[in-house]
Amino acid sequence: KVVAVIMVGGPTKGTRFRPLSFNTPKPLFPLAGQPMVNHPISACKKIPNLAQIFLIGFYEEREFALYVSSISKELKVPVRYLKEDKPHGSAGGLYYFRNLITEELPSHIFLLNCDVCCNFPLPEMLVAHRRYGGMGTLLVIKVSAESANQFGELVADPVTKELLHYTEKPETFVSDLINCGVYVFTPEIFSAIQDVSLNREDRATLPHFSSFEALQLATRSLPTDFVRLDQDILSPLAGKKKLYTYETMDFWEQIKTPAMSLKCSALYLAQFQYTTAHLLASRDGTKNATIVGDVYIHPSAKVHSTAKIGPNVSISANVRVAAGARLISCIILDDVEIKENAVVMHAIVGWKSSIGKWSRVQAEGDYNSKLGITILGEAVTVEDEVVVINSIVLPNKTLNLSVQEEIIL
Ligand code: GDD
Repeated sequence: KVVAVIMVGGPTKGTRFRPLSFNTPKPLFPLAGQPMVNHPISACKKIPNLAQIFLIGFYEEREFALYVSSISKELKVPVRYLKEDKPHGSAGGLYYFRNLITEELPSHIFLLNCDVCCNFPLPEMLVAHRRYGGMGTLLVIKVSAESANQFGELVADPVTKELLHYTEKPETFVSDLINCGVYVFTPEIFSAIQDVSLNREDRATLPHFSSFEALQLATRSLPTDFVRLDQDILSPLAGKKKLYTYETMDFWEQIKTPAMSLKCSALYLAQFQYTTAHLLASRDGTKNATIVGDVYIHPSAKVHSTAKIGPNVSISANVRVAAGARLISCIILDDVEIKENAVVMHAIVGWKSSIGKWSRVQAEGDYNSKLGITILGEAVTVEDEVVVINSIVLPNKTLNLSVQEEIIL
């Protein structure tokens, strides 16, 4: 049997995702019309002999209750949300629930970060992992040398694929091969995490320190049950014939900001063509709106036949798009109203917002700059003929004047 664990983190971690994380946990934010975490969960379905999927985080249980029960039914695989009482780190969280995770004596455990976007080649990783015969296999990818320092940089043996060296977000360049945050382990991972924990306990109680020094050391170092997968496990175990790498040549992105969620929504919509084409809006309906490129429209949304939508547009439940509206590269969240002849381009429009007639909500679409996309928080009203460019608008604001490059608090 195999189990999968998805690390979803918690509310304090999502600050870069504001204002969209105010009342929806980031893992449930929709990309291509599905909650972010749905994409790795659907990928898990392809793992042979998958017994269970666990989501581990420190969000309140009730925030995930509905999602977890509906996705369990849909996939016919039990999906459970496990809440940590406090953050234990990416490896500590796994260890904290070791008894539940190993209950069915799995031979392998997949571990996935929830904030990455890729095609999750999980069965392929498992095959490679069995061939290598180590404790763990990491999904890795080559990125540009300039962007590598945002990730774990690593060196792998070109022939055996063994992980030889690992540094988390280094200050000086190590390698353009980076850690994708997707792993498969044997249950030996639990003893490796335990060793880190025990080691810390020993250090805190070393007898040759005076009690003052011991106290200083203990407070300066991390709590014994806080273990980071990257720094505390991957770095020390590199070059010990325990960890191996599987390189993907397909797409991969990390989703830390709303702008990146817009980019990743496009990547998942493009992937739907090969996996779930029925989810894409059809381009040939005569009485429907004009559809350009990859578009998702929730069945409950009402889009006028003279509107033009796409590419990269995702429209959530109960949205109304009026006559003559033009939508390009945007995520429109639940219950939004877009009135006649409005234009939305390179933007995310928050739940229950309303965009007036002949208004424009737009940006130039640079995913790497702070105001590269325009974001309207929940229940923002843009009045008729108002233009909002490269701006972030916090929830419950009404805009009756045009703004450019502003953060409206
Ligand atoms: N449950 C739980 N508890 N989840 C956590 C905790 C915790 O205490 N801490 C982090 N996570 C989750 C986050 O939500 C995220 O999904 C994942 O664990 C990794 O988060 P971080 O530890 O903050 O690392 P990162 O995202 O900056 O970088 C990691 O992922 C990159 C790939 O996206 C590193 O492993 C990098 O090396 C890697 O390149």
